[in-house]
Amino acid sequence: MELFDLIVIGGGPAGYNAAGRAGHSGLKTLVIEKRALGGVCLNEGCVPSKSLLYSAKVLDYANHASNYGVTVTGASLDQKKVVARKDKVVKTLVSGIGMQMKQAGVKVVAAEAQILKKDAEGFHVTADGQEYVGKNLLIATGSAPVVPPIPGLREGLEAGHVMTNREVLDLQEIPEKLVVIGGGVIGLEMASYYNSVGSKVTVIEMLDHIAGPTDREISNILMKNYEKKGITFKLGYKVTAVEKNAVICEDANGKSESVPADKILCSIGRRAVTQGFGLENLNVLLDRGAIKTDEQMRTNIAGLYAAGDVNGVSMLAHTAYREGEVAINTILGKKDHMRYHAIPSVIYTNPEVGAVGETEESAKAKGMDVEVVKLPLMYSGRYVAENEDSRDGICKVLVDRKYRRVVGIHMIGSYASEIIYGGAMMIETELKVEDLQEIVFPHPTVCEVIREALFEVK
Ligand code: NAI
Repeated sequence: MELFDLIVIGGGPAGYNAAGRAGHSGLKTLVIEKRALGGVCLNEGCVPSKSLLYSAKVLDYANHASNYGVTVTGASLDQKKVVARKDKVVKTLVSGIGMQMKQAGVKVVAAEAQILKKDAEGFHVTADGQEYVGKNLLIATGSAPVVPPIPGLREGLEAGHVMTNREVLDLQEIPEKLVVIGGGVIGLEMASYYNSVGSKVTVIEMLDHIAGPTDREISNILMKNYEKKGITFKLGYKVTAVEKNAVICEDANGKSESVPADKILCSIGRRAVTQGFGLENLNVLLDRGAIKTDEQMRTNIAGLYAAGDVNGVSMLAHTAYREGEVAINTILGKKDHMRYHAIPSVIYTNPEVGAVGETEESAKAKGMDVEVVKLPLMYSGRYVAENEDSRDGICKVLVDRKYRRVVGIHMIGSYASEIIYGGAMMIETELKVEDLQEIVFPHPTVCEVIREALFEVK
């Protein structure tokens, strides 16, 4: 039986980052991962999808090269090579995490963990036939796709014509017709990829808009862009059954329709993974199926922490990183807490969406008095120079009228994913508009539009 200061179950962004920080801080740390270090994000989520989307972007560039005075003939995409490249990218990064764990002095066990009990010694966990005891235990088991009891859906997953975020990244052939159930982030990113590479894509979404909590004006622009590119959106439709070659759905009036499909992607959300590893032996408090945590990532049990998707607060890899750090700082006795009001979110479609803070809708719902400044990205020379095909990008800056602080920034257009952290800094640092106006932005860039917007604030 080996004793550790900290045992981490799950080697995804929350788990491996926390383990690395803990190791560097002198805590004797063990991380147990049953599949691969990097978790969903690195192996079957954020990173592989970006690898695929970049291939699609290169193809889009080639197909539209003539708009920029460049002649490209016969551009085509080899899906098998795209997937092989994606696998190489993942492999490189996974081995990088292995190195990081080594450098931090963290022990990694590649096996399934089972929590046995908590006693005076600490948390007893078994993996690969060994028993380990941790003074502290961090649960970072992540999330899994929601598969609702729609007739034919589970059978379709088993048969292979229905996919989740995992299988959709490994398709060796481009499906002629792809139906995406759920117009959230995963659905839109994959719809974007398969649209670019030639599939006829239909997105079925039960709400009256895509992209969930995204600023409505921005999600409408995104949808228009994709309608122009050929994606069909069926909003306000409920899926009632899934067949081998079709998805059956009905509109608000109960009118049923069959949408032909060679492959179907089920992307209707994710749920925290709290079962199958002995968590029930600890009597931990759950909240709507996720582990309930406070601002320090503590649970109701002393020494037990939860970070990442498993606590269900904000299912994003970058939130997970930060939550893991907060958990470790709390264990180390350092003052720290989790703040969720300035976490950026990005949709890596083409155009990209970058957002942080309040939307017009959420600010209104909270009764906040905000001024909304909206500028077209056409204000940016670089944007005009680089976008011949579509120039409808916008930037919205929301400012609290009383405190004159930025409370939200929302962008659709090139580089939005890279720019948006600047918005997070404006919100986190709570600088006033007048202070932000003194900051010099590089020129010519797309981010300059934010600076322009700050000067438009009354
Ligand atoms: P999501 O929660 O983003 O979107 C699910 C969508 O499915 C919602 O719009 C919902 O209204 C719709 N829906 C639910 N049930 C439905 C039904 N029966 N029929 C039709 N539509 C239905 O979930 P998604 O896309 O699966 O993503 C899961 C998680 O992964 C999210 O928390 C997301 O933040 C994260 N993620 C983040 C990415 C990023 O930051 N770029 C990329 C991919 C995933």
